[in-house]
Amino acid sequence: MSTPSRRPEAPLGVFDSGLGGLTVVRALRERCPGEHIVYLGDTARVPYGTRSPETIIKYALGCSRVLIRRGVKAIVVACNTVSSVALDMMRVELDLPVLGVILPGARAAVAASGGEPIGILGTTGTIASGAYPRAIAALSTRTEVSGQPAPLLVALAEEGWVEGEVPHLVARRYLEPLVRAGARTVVLGCTHFPLLREVIEAEAAALAGRPITIVDSAHATADEAVAFLAERGLASPAGGRGSLELLVTDVPKSFAAVASRFLGEPVGDVEQIDL
Ligand code: DGL
Repeated sequence: MSTPSRRPEAPLGVFDSGLGGLTVVRALRERCPGEHIVYLGDTARVPYGTRSPETIIKYALGCSRVLIRRGVKAIVVACNTVSSVALDMMRVELDLPVLGVILPGARAAVAASGGEPIGILGTTGTIASGAYPRAIAALSTRTEVSGQPAPLLVALAEEGWVEGEVPHLVARRYLEPLVRAGARTVVLGCTHFPLLREVIEAEAAALAGRPITIVDSAHATADEAVAFLAERGLASPAGGRGSLELLVTDVPKSFAAVASRFLGEPVGDVEQIDL
């Protein structure tokens, strides 16, 4: 395998199973516009959230090796499912810094909750792993946490079906148990879910009869990544203009269309690669 780069001017690698990780890219581009970012969406194998931990680890190492071959200085895992089950293995196998989304999301949730119950909406894999309750318990033993797998929300986000009756109905069904368990804060524990944030926020408030605090781990992750790069002396030199390179494993055309709409900037060519 090629040697990872230690140079501040090297790109930052970011990956997810598909479009969802672009929520982290958008937050990174707002906070550190000078960084060069290489994003990989494993669109040939989305969704990850319904797969076994062994398969997710294999996919995560495959994506990471592609990014390392592109000379990245660190990897931001813009996927809760991978962060839940594969982060330790990635840190053992890969010789570069690897940052995940769970810990930043858990920190933001504890800070927002004021000790009231927290609900986690995530993929089947993320909820089954127990990664969020563990991370939250390590920060605040008093806080109750309940989790709800919400796999259909991944499909809706990938389809760009983020408004209207269908996403509202699906979100309501998934949120009901969390609100019934007393959740006053809901964590978007899948990077696809911020694409449906308005729907989730509206349905949660309607079910609870009061506003519910929504925590988006993408923003918290981007904040942590920026602080981490600065601490390690790996932040891109000030004054430079960053760039965004997009790689996918399938259907680059439809990815480009949704990505540019979502990022609010033209994305140029999306390169199709094989893992
Ligand atoms: N966006 C990813 C996550 O945060 C994965 C969704 C999926 O592929 O199922 O978990």
